[in-house]
Amino acid sequence: MTDALLQGWTSDHRRRAGREIVKFNHRLAETGLFTDEALARLIDEHPRSELTVCTMAENPPPDQVWIAGEGRDLSGAELVHAAKTGKLWVSPRSAMTKNPRYKAVFDRLMGEFAKATGISVLSADAAVLLSGPKMGIFFHVDPAETMLWHIRGTKTIYVYPPKEEHVTERALEAILLKETLSDLPYHPDMEKTVEAVALVPGEAAFWPMHSPHRVVNGDDLNVSISIEFSSPRSMLTNGVFYTNGRLRRSLGLKPTSRGTPAVLSPAYWAAAKAMRILAPIKTNVERSHERQFDVDLSAPGCVAWRPGYGPRAVASKAA
Ligand SMILES: [Fe+2]
Repeated sequence: MTDALLQGWTSDHRRRAGREIVKFNHRLAETGLFTDEALARLIDEHPRSELTVCTMAENPPPDQVWIAGEGRDLSGAELVHAAKTGKLWVSPRSAMTKNPRYKAVFDRLMGEFAKATGISVLSADAAVLLSGPKMGIFFHVDPAETMLWHIRGTKTIYVYPPKEEHVTERALEAILLKETLSDLPYHPDMEKTVEAVALVPGEAAFWPMHSPHRVVNGDDLNVSISIEFSSPRSMLTNGVFYTNGRLRRSLGLKPTSRGTPAVLSPAYWAAAKAMRILAPIKTNVERSHERQFDVDLSAPGCVAWRPGYGPRAVASKAA
């Protein structure tokens, strides 16, 4: 046992990291930053405009998108209590980089991760996630490299191979071109190739870039940090997808990003960078979600629906 936050990392982990799903251990809980009291303080210190609050059905189906709400007049302690007892997801976005106490730990963590994996981390950000019993996250893909470090409670991440059957090149291009958010078309057949990764406190998982995934919590409060970072690999790969997305749309070409020889990736990255500067695209997607409820400790699931909204909306696919 060392003082390192990252634990149980072996040469086998290093060989598989980035290529397969790897699970490892960590000591984030020992920092004291993730107790109820510390989380309440974090939420109180965090700008409310950068706090995601949402709800969903229990054990949410893979294709059910969450519903946004607000916890405007509640203290951090009240929001922690609501996350623990209600049907809620509460997340101070970028807390690990914006709050100095958390950033000190995050910088250490990413330094250890980069050293252990041999991956150059170019930039990184992370949210703190608090989510209640049986909450989850729908089927989606993240454009950056992602991993989850789990601190309290139990959860299962369902990870799908980053193949055309699960996430098409066109869908990845649309996310990178900001035509859509990160949700993807889902089909039950995809469960044939899923890998279920169960996480208990002190465990973390890192999966290959562009692997679609979804999450379902156990019967307890979950506290995790969700990390996204860019690496030379993600920068070059996304440059290929971005450039091909633009070519497909503007010139009607039918390029294949996954078949692009690695040696050409830097040229694609340079092209993508130039296009972003010289010919920026208009974003079509509505990135702000309509707030449909307020957190209320006395309401069922701590969710008080605003006029015109209600539980029936949770039972059917939300916008
Ligand atoms: Fe994700």
